[in-house]
Amino acid sequence: MIKRVEDLTIDEAKEELASLANRIAELDVAYYRDDAPLLDDAEYDALKRRNQEIEQNFPALIRADSPSLRVGAPIATDFNKITHTVPMLSLEDIFSDEDVVAFLAKVKRFLGMADSEDIEVVAEPKIDGLSFSAVYRNGQLVSGATRGDGTTGEDITANLKTIRQVPLSLRKGTDLFETVPDLIDIRGEVYMAKEDFFELNRMQEEAHKKIFANPRNAAAGSLRQLDAQVTAERRLSIFAYACGEADPITWKTHYDYLQQLKKWGFPVNPEIKLCHNIKEMLDFFHQITEKRSSLPYDIDGVVYKVNSLELQNRLGFIARSPRWAIAHKFPAEQAITRLNHIRIQVGRTGALTPVADLEPVNVGGVIVRHATLHNADEIMRKDIREGDMVVVQRAGDVIPQIVRVLPEKRLPDSKPYVFPSVCPVCGSRAVREGDDAVIYCTGELFCPAQQIEALKHFVSKDALDIEGLGNKNIELFFEKGWIKNAVDLMNFKANHELELIGLDGWGLKSAHNLFEAIEKARQGVPLERFIYAIGIREVGEATARLLAHNYHSWQAFRSAMESAEAYEQLTHIEGIGPVMAQFITDFFQEEHNRILLTQLENIMKIKDYVAPIQKQGPLFGKHIVFTGTLETMTRPEAKAKAQAAGAKVISSVSAKTDYVVVGANPGSKQTEAEKLNIMQISEKEFKQMLDV
Ligand code: IVH
Repeated sequence: MIKRVEDLTIDEAKEELASLANRIAELDVAYYRDDAPLLDDAEYDALKRRNQEIEQNFPALIRADSPSLRVGAPIATDFNKITHTVPMLSLEDIFSDEDVVAFLAKVKRFLGMADSEDIEVVAEPKIDGLSFSAVYRNGQLVSGATRGDGTTGEDITANLKTIRQVPLSLRKGTDLFETVPDLIDIRGEVYMAKEDFFELNRMQEEAHKKIFANPRNAAAGSLRQLDAQVTAERRLSIFAYACGEADPITWKTHYDYLQQLKKWGFPVNPEIKLCHNIKEMLDFFHQITEKRSSLPYDIDGVVYKVNSLELQNRLGFIARSPRWAIAHKFPAEQAITRLNHIRIQVGRTGALTPVADLEPVNVGGVIVRHATLHNADEIMRKDIREGDMVVVQRAGDVIPQIVRVLPEKRLPDSKPYVFPSVCPVCGSRAVREGDDAVIYCTGELFCPAQQIEALKHFVSKDALDIEGLGNKNIELFFEKGWIKNAVDLMNFKANHELELIGLDGWGLKSAHNLFEAIEKARQGVPLERFIYAIGIREVGEATARLLAHNYHSWQAFRSAMESAEAYEQLTHIEGIGPVMAQFITDFFQEEHNRILLTQLENIMKIKDYVAPIQKQGPLFGKHIVFTGTLETMTRPEAKAKAQAAGAKVISSVSAKTDYVVVGANPGSKQTEAEKLNIMQISEKEFKQMLDV
């Protein structure tokens, strides 16, 4: 068995979260942006689920770039982009009845409700398709978009319009008083019914065209067509279930909104039920589980949503998912197959990750070819050997990991797996750090695999985003000895222009395009992207943004990080824990990092941080500290509200603090505020400042 989450040490948990974050980010790009999944959905879901389980047990270790905080991946370049006025969020996944109980308890705690009080929750089947947003102005459909990365999606207006179930204009009700809003962004799921999926594959087969693995992939492939004509030929369906921006909002509950959607002409899932207590919620889940195979469309679980919009507003969001909704996913499915080979991957930070190459097997409708083995301990614990028959499991609808081996089917000459003691790429010693479960290559920047991974990271979409420099090219230029690090890359044109033009497959035009892309990055890269690009261990996009937000300029950030107070300062930033702070300070203490950074500073421009446009109320950019008990809201609620208003919530009072919000029975923080002469405000004043 894999190590139970409860049995993980802090360090093991930390490392596993780090490797999960890296891996999942990579898989997301392949899946969401490139439509070319690297793993089966089942395998993918298993990774996400494991990540979530660890996070639940070690909330302090949740990484700023945790996959649980992410929605999808950056969009492809070929569609126009549409920015969602209200972000399209994702949902946290849970897998058991106990998790549902915990969810509801947490909601009540956040709202300051008694456990015995009931709360209305809408339970909906979780449709396994892809989400859409459809904006109507004065009742007319004006644009349609995919979720994309949650902030920006692809413009699929033309495609969406080909789906018959999408109303081109909102139907006005018979009631005289019933009108349509001036503006509404209606959201839901595009899916392909099972029957239509089988029919499509039958036709594809006849025409010797691509066969789709499952209805979800077929729906995605059909909707994201540059030629909307193709979309029109596919039979797609929709269910509407959510709302982005809307003006005016005339409904008070989610359930009422769903009724309104029906009146406007939208299909709303007929199974949806308004539940009044936990029993009704769980009953719904179990009934839907029974019904699942007979439904005409694929579902992968149930979504629970707090019914009252007022409560939804109070609950707000955590990172990228609402606190007022959650996805209860169906349990895992299993199958037996042979493990052909154990492969070791070397990551950017040198982590050696074992991967099982499997004899392809169908697990609940999805072909599974690989499974992660996490680390050497996991292989040992389960005594997994090459050639073994293994039980593969995927949780959720499309997913996998190795549950156990079947010793009775073991080949007589099988030998226990020996984890390599040297890096398979550079031959350096492979070691554990402390009681860390992960084994690292000690080659650091001398290990070609690590150098290459660092370069890939540096130019990747969310970092410098240098187009025309895919993984293959980086590997090629690296092998030729043209680029070993980021500085070589920035100087690529000066040193290797002629060689590149002479290279097979390259010509004047393509070389020119690449040099131009590099030049663009040299001319100016946003601070948050640069911080992300330099590849500090654990620092993902969100942390990089947080750091950029706090320091504004590269000079300010670098000098702070090289000062004696760096660690101290970092731990005062809400969202940066001690582990992360240590990795960041360590990074800036490394001589070779400093040399590289100085060289980069000299050849490229790092642009100051520009905060996203936000309504700038009186709390915007202020450092605030809470002390004592608040009366009308709980502490997490207050903190979330303050952050949403652009304030930085700090855990302790210092000279930099702007306001201390003082509740009943304040603690030592108030004394401290008095000493430092920091402005103290009441809960009421705080709320007034929020409202502006
Ligand atoms: S509500 C803020 N309701 O699941 C809440 N999502 O994991 C937004 N999905 O991106 C989502 N059925 O693509 C919601 N009845 C349902 C859903 C549903 C399927 C998908 C949707 C979303 C994903 C989140």
